[in-house]
Amino acid sequence: MLKIRPLSAKIGAEISGVDLKTLDDGDFAEIYAAFLDRIVLVFRGQDLAMEDFLAHGRRYGPVRPHIVQKSRHPVLPDLMVMDNKIVDTKKGAEKTPSVNLVKRGAVWHTDTSYDYVTAKATQLYARAIPSRGGDTLFSNAYAIYDALPDTLKRRIEGLRASYKYGGRLKREVQLLEDEDRVRPAAVHALVRVHPETGRKTIYFNPGQVMEVEGLDRAESDDLIATLTDYVESPDGDYRHAWQVDDLIIWDNRCLVHAATGDYPPEERRIHWRASMMEHGWTPALEAEARMALA
Ligand code: SIN
Repeated sequence: MLKIRPLSAKIGAEISGVDLKTLDDGDFAEIYAAFLDRIVLVFRGQDLAMEDFLAHGRRYGPVRPHIVQKSRHPVLPDLMVMDNKIVDTKKGAEKTPSVNLVKRGAVWHTDTSYDYVTAKATQLYARAIPSRGGDTLFSNAYAIYDALPDTLKRRIEGLRASYKYGGRLKREVQLLEDEDRVRPAAVHALVRVHPETGRKTIYFNPGQVMEVEGLDRAESDDLIATLTDYVESPDGDYRHAWQVDDLIIWDNRCLVHAATGDYPPEERRIHWRASMMEHGWTPALEAEARMALA
């Protein structure tokens, strides 16, 4: 029987008593309500093939392949293989893990802010887990927005920030193909209204931000530093210690997260990953959003 157990005060629920391969519409409706309410859902002990994993993601919306083409599964490109020992599917050769890949995602972020239309949700499914460390931290972005001083809320209302993969430090840009490295920055409002709950939330990604539009360099840097202080926290609202076969799905519209990246680098850490868009999203809509910025 389906059970929903909150994992912390501000965020997270563990869902038990379900098999994600055979979830009926009634249980899915209950789980989806928990997804909107608790933002991060944890399912332990799932036994999924790649097609099952993608089919589960598609219940939330269409999957968009990840910008890092080397991380896409060669047969199922919607599925990203997040592996600290990256396999370059173009060259077919295994590469030795680098510090960058062990630390991949180890900065507070929301997903796909470098894309012209940002993802609705992301799911991660643990396939190999190191013997210690490698947790993931999650924080509630509605609560971050609610806690901002009123002066700061007024300052950011109507402002937009630009984002590129790798951000100002160009983190992990070596993973990109040339055509993706030169993509123009995407621009998103710092304050958004969640399309389903109607709640206001901050949308800010310290790891990928380039600048705040309409401000001079010093003001933009100052605002980025201020917002980064509010978004980053040592432990987040919920820390997930992974076990193999855990699946986590989160609402990317009202959440920030960070990998801790603190595991033995010689050990393997592998997740299957997919980011889902709003129902109705198409690559053509994404191209229109990109043209609107040009
Ligand atoms: C992610 O940021 O999507 C992945 C987090 C992790 O690897 O723990």
